[in-house]
Amino acid sequence: MKKIKKITCIGAGYVGGPTMSVIAQKNPEIQVTVVDLNEQRIAAWNNDNLDLLPIYEPGLDEVIKEARGRNLFFSTEVNKAIDEADVIFISVNTPTKTYGKGKGQAADLKFIELCARQIAAISTSDKIVVEKSTLPVRTAEALKSILDNTGNGVNFHILSNPEFLAEGTAIADLHAPDRVLIGGENAEAIEALVNVYNSWVPRERILTTNLWSSELSKLVANAFLAQRVSSINSISELCEVTGANVDEVAYAIGHDSRIGSKFLKASVGFGGSCFQKDILNLVYIARSYHLNEVADYWEQVILMNDHQKTRFAENIIQTMYNTVNGKKIVFLGWAFKKDTNDTRESAAIYVADHLLDEEATLVVYDPKVTENQIYSDLNYLGTRTSLENSRLVTVTKDPYEAFKDAHAVAILTEWDEFKAFDWAKIKQIMKKPAFVFDGRKLLHKGHMEAIGFQYYAIGE
Ligand code: UDX
Ligand code: ADP
Repeated sequence: MKKIKKITCIGAGYVGGPTMSVIAQKNPEIQVTVVDLNEQRIAAWNNDNLDLLPIYEPGLDEVIKEARGRNLFFSTEVNKAIDEADVIFISVNTPTKTYGKGKGQAADLKFIELCARQIAAISTSDKIVVEKSTLPVRTAEALKSILDNTGNGVNFHILSNPEFLAEGTAIADLHAPDRVLIGGENAEAIEALVNVYNSWVPRERILTTNLWSSELSKLVANAFLAQRVSSINSISELCEVTGANVDEVAYAIGHDSRIGSKFLKASVGFGGSCFQKDILNLVYIARSYHLNEVADYWEQVILMNDHQKTRFAENIIQTMYNTVNGKKIVFLGWAFKKDTNDTRESAAIYVADHLLDEEATLVVYDPKVTENQIYSDLNYLGTRTSLENSRLVTVTKDPYEAFKDAHAVAILTEWDEFKAFDWAKIKQIMKKPAFVFDGRKLLHKGHMEAIGFQYYAIGE
């Protein structure tokens, strides 16, 4: 296989953008072009003002500054970039299906298929096609069939190279990954991609497997991580009734090296584009092979997560004398975790929806999420009209203004800045009794109670 000179990535999202930026940064001799149909998104990636990149990730601006214009390019010329490339990464979205067979569970592969057909139609030279998006097992087979049957007789080698970066720490994760996984059948194609990563990742951290193992490992890794969060969240409820403290329990069990300390932070519920989608996918695959016990087992991780979000909202209502009608509740955080502007499947959306059903008035403050995004998340649920949502929900960039005469504060995202707020001052300007519902166990109970708050945290 000839040496890779040009890489194209289709899809300039949360995965494609950062991943390709780091590949370009670490391989200055390879030209990396990221293409997307969305012109606005590409324009934002090309913006001179690095504060206006389409996604927020700590450290991303530095990488872009170094590589963009040198060997990293963002473009809407999809066909040209496909034709030129030796390697094409497919990094388009694979949302859960909202229609037809597998609705609500299976991954919608229409964007992948469109990509494959486009690659087949355009390509006039041999190419390595890499699945970067998370895909159901055996998608590579479909991909190969489309490429081989509709192409111009050129050779396509398909590799699976799932991305394990977590948002908020994407650049650090890409710079020093625990492992890079490459699945495939063709040894030369695998080796070519290994070399791209090997320019900064030690060889022993680059794992190679067959295609199906690689595809499945991505789903399983996310399912295991999500399962840990649901496990500790289930224990948080037990802690609340027994007087144990879930952080202490997590600390105690996490010291067992067989269990390990990571992903044991109880919360209002996991969100993000991956966990729920990947588990639903796993459940769907298991059911389609009639493995009902396997499917039920993994489905419980999602049910527990839904329960945690509902429980948090219900606790707010009950504690505030069984009514939040007309009461002003300040939401701190809307993103699904700190250090990202991504809100996909964020617990905040579902907790808000629950409280809005009870006619609460919400004021939302998130340091990185835009007002448009917050309304669009709520409108997308279809629970109420956009007019009603804008009547009941206000978005602010000035939290202290929001706290004035608020009945309660709910912490939905663990942004560091919330810890540094002047909580004594906040207490003064809120209505009394002043309630704080901490869905992230971010603040200190003793301190908050000393100030005079009615403070409730998950799991204590
Ligand atoms: C996840 C995987 O970690 C990553 O490997 C994969 O590539 C994509 O999916 P991401 O969704 O970006 O990454 O974030 P992650 O840090 O895994 O958090 C997911 C959700 O779980 C967040 O809502 C987070 O707040 C929550 N979480 C995580 C907890 O509630 N407690 C924890 O201990 C850890
Ligand atoms: P992820 O989190 O997996 O990166 P995103 O939704 O953030 O997902 O990004 C996927 C991107 O892929 C979107 O910007 C979308 O416009 C783009 N996309 C989808 N289909 C195509 C296609 N056929 N050609 C080019 N870009 C595409």
